[in-house]
Amino acid sequence: MSYKNIISEQKNGICYITINRPKQLNALNSLTISELNKAILKADKNKLVKVIILTGSEKKAFVAGADIKEFAEFDSLSGEELARQGQKLLFDLLENIGTPSIAAINGFALGGGLELAMASHIRIAADNAKMGLPEVSLGVIPGYGGTQRLANLVGKGKAMEMITTASMMSADEAKEWGLVNYVCSQEDLLFTAEKIAEKIKKNSPMAIARAIKSINAGFLSNVNGFEVEKKEFGNCFGTPEFVEGTAAFIQKRKPNF
Ligand code: CAA
Repeated sequence: MSYKNIISEQKNGICYITINRPKQLNALNSLTISELNKAILKADKNKLVKVIILTGSEKKAFVAGADIKEFAEFDSLSGEELARQGQKLLFDLLENIGTPSIAAINGFALGGGLELAMASHIRIAADNAKMGLPEVSLGVIPGYGGTQRLANLVGKGKAMEMITTASMMSADEAKEWGLVNYVCSQEDLLFTAEKIAEKIKKNSPMAIARAIKSINAGFLSNVNGFEVEKKEFGNCFGTPEFVEGTAAFIQKRKPNF
C-alpha cells in the first residue's frame, strides 16, 4: 500500500511507521490520521510484525500537533467530531492493539504529537526532543486523549501544570517526570528502540497482547483490571504459545513462538 503522508516499512519483525509531512512539521491532518489508521491495522494483522516503531521524518519533529490550519474554521460540533474520529481511528486504536508499539520521539512532540506518543505503549526520546500539550495557548484543550493519558502517565498534579502552562519540556525533564522511558542521542534513537523491540520479539505475541489488554483495563473507569487480568491469565492456558513456552522451560531450551 502506498501512502502520501507516512512511510510504512517492515524489516526483521518490526514495522517502522514514519510520519512524513516535514514542511508542516508532521502535523496530523485527516489524511495522515487515516493513513496511520490503515498502516497500524495492517501491521497488527500481520503475524510477522512483532513490534511497531513510530517516528517522524527529518530531525526536527516527531509530530508538531494536530493540523491547526485544518481545524481553525471548525465550530463546536465539528470540533467534537474531530476529537471523536481522531481518538477512534488512531489514538485508541494504537493503545489497544495487541502489537506493542514504541514511539521514537525525534524532535517536537506537541499537542496531538505528544498524544500519539502517549497512546504508544513505550516512549523513547532523542535528547533534542521537546514535548508539551500547548493547546490552551491556542484557545482549545488537548482533544486526542491528552488530558487523560498525561495524567495517567505523570500524575494529576504534573499534568495540570503541563497543560495549564502550555510549556514545553526537554527530553531529560520528560524522563524525570516518567513521560519517557529512555533518552538517547538522535543518532541512537532507532537503535535504542530496536534494542527494546528485540527483547519483545523473543516473547509470546499472544501473551503480550493479553498483557496489554489487562494493563489498559486498569485505566478504564467502568472495568475492573484485576478481573480482566484473571480472565486473560486463564485464556493463555492451552494455547499453542503457552504449550510451547512452558515446554521450552521444562526442556531447558529457548521457546519458538
Ligand atoms: N499545524 C499546522 N501546521 C503546523 C503545525 C501544526 N500543529 N506546527 C507547525 N506547522 C507548520 C507551520 O505553520 C509552518 O508552516 P508554513 O511554513 O507553511 O508557515 C511549518 O510547519 C514550520 O513551522 P514553524 O515555522 O512554526 O517552525 P518553528 O521552528 O519556528 O517552530 C514549533 C516550531 C514551535 C513546533 C511551531 O511550529 C509550533 O508552535 N507549532 C504548533 C504547535 C502546537 O500548538 N501544537 C498543538 C496543535 S493543536 C492540537 O494538537 C489539538 C489536539 O490535541 C487535537
